[in-house]
Amino acid sequence: MNAQEKEETFNSPPLGVGGKTQIGIIGAGPAGLTLALLLRRAGIDCIVLEYRSREYVESRVRAGLLEQNTVTLFNELGVAERLNKEGLRHQGVYLSFDEQRIRVPFDELTGGRCITIYGQQEVLKDLIKACLERGIEIFFEAEVKQVNNIETNSPSIIYYNKEEQHEISCDFVAGCDGFHGIARKLLPKDSYNEFRKDYPFSWLGILAHAKPSTDELIYSYHERGFALHSLRSETVSRLYIQVENDDKVENWSDDNIWNELSLRLHTEGVHLNTGDIFEKAITPMRSFMIDNLQYGRLFLSGDAAHIVPPTGGKGLNLAVADIRWLAEGFIHFYKTNKEDLLQAYTTNALRRVWRAQDFSNFMTYLFHKQAAHGSFEYHLQKAKFDYIRLSKAYATTIAENYVGLKEI
Ligand code: FAD
Ligand code: PHB
Repeated sequence: MNAQEKEETFNSPPLGVGGKTQIGIIGAGPAGLTLALLLRRAGIDCIVLEYRSREYVESRVRAGLLEQNTVTLFNELGVAERLNKEGLRHQGVYLSFDEQRIRVPFDELTGGRCITIYGQQEVLKDLIKACLERGIEIFFEAEVKQVNNIETNSPSIIYYNKEEQHEISCDFVAGCDGFHGIARKLLPKDSYNEFRKDYPFSWLGILAHAKPSTDELIYSYHERGFALHSLRSETVSRLYIQVENDDKVENWSDDNIWNELSLRLHTEGVHLNTGDIFEKAITPMRSFMIDNLQYGRLFLSGDAAHIVPPTGGKGLNLAVADIRWLAEGFIHFYKTNKEDLLQAYTTNALRRVWRAQDFSNFMTYLFHKQAAHGSFEYHLQKAKFDYIRLSKAYATTIAENYVGLKEI
């Protein structure tokens, strides 16, 4: 270690020393970081504890679709400079069934609303940068293992960094630690009902250095299974195909993936651009939810409390929508010393979550192959697709859910 490195190590803040804050946030995902920024703007103190390294969090490939509400909030928070420059605004989406393609125009059906395509890793880079510039402390590689005294007015968070134990005491704890985090496990089992649906298929997702073959996303039902064409930039495509739950990435050569995609996305006159695949992963499809987001002074937000299958592109957006309600509750509490908005948090947040659960489930059933081609299930799917073509009302329902309801 040279002298400069020694100095930097010495000068970096010792994790959690003197640990006291108003809101202790577990998890530096979209939920935790958005909450930190909203609290900071209101002058409320918080500390974010993140199990992974900054590098890991900033490179984890996941979502890409941002609803208009999410983009508006990031603009209000002053973290959307790069998003506004590099994000791709889409005014519609293509839906395809048995190689017939239709377009649902959002702008026309929703009074000018749209979605923006911008990778979750880019969102996280922007949020982390803004947090650090605004003096918000984020402790990376800090794994929360316990939260004590949740039922009192001064809960404390126990976390580990490099096997050393630390403690932070706070007024409230926000569990923004994703599906596999610890926060949900701290709720007493009899304080909530749990709902879970595991779908009998998964998604193989790829990122490729390939010029997108489409200007807007394509969701496609094909007798070989579902496919989705998304994108990240002028030169990078993001694509997914439906695979079996026990399938493995190793079973899929690049050539096989491109062959399968070109069959499943085929429409007359459209050619699929291929290129070097630099990311491949398989994700299970799941709907999950609990119907209580609070116990004592612990509040859950985002994937910690609910998971939707990615077919509607809703997960990140729901995490941010929860946080809007939660931040409002905390801000109201510090202004008035009243907990009424915090007590209403579960009810307020879950309205949108149930709506998104329904829409994500609808999109999943509409576009995935679930039973033999030509079966009763298939005909129901086809009848729905045909109805989108026939009915402006039905297309509007899809459009307004897809771009995200403004008020709910
Ligand atoms: P997370 O992003 O999971 O963040 C939780 C953080 O907590 C993590 O960084 C984790 O390391 C940390 N943590 C966990 N345990 C601990 C602990 N004990 N101590 C400290 N830290 C801890 N959503 C969309 O809106 N649009 C899309 O297009 C979309 N596409 C998707 C595609 C795929 C393939 C997948 C997998 C997901 C997609 N999603 C999409 C979902 C979206 O990525 C998630 O819903 C979103 O990341 C949820 O944010 P979060 O902050 O709640 O949780
Ligand atoms: C993505 O771009 O990664 C994406 C887009 C839409 C979805 C899911 C994922 O429904």
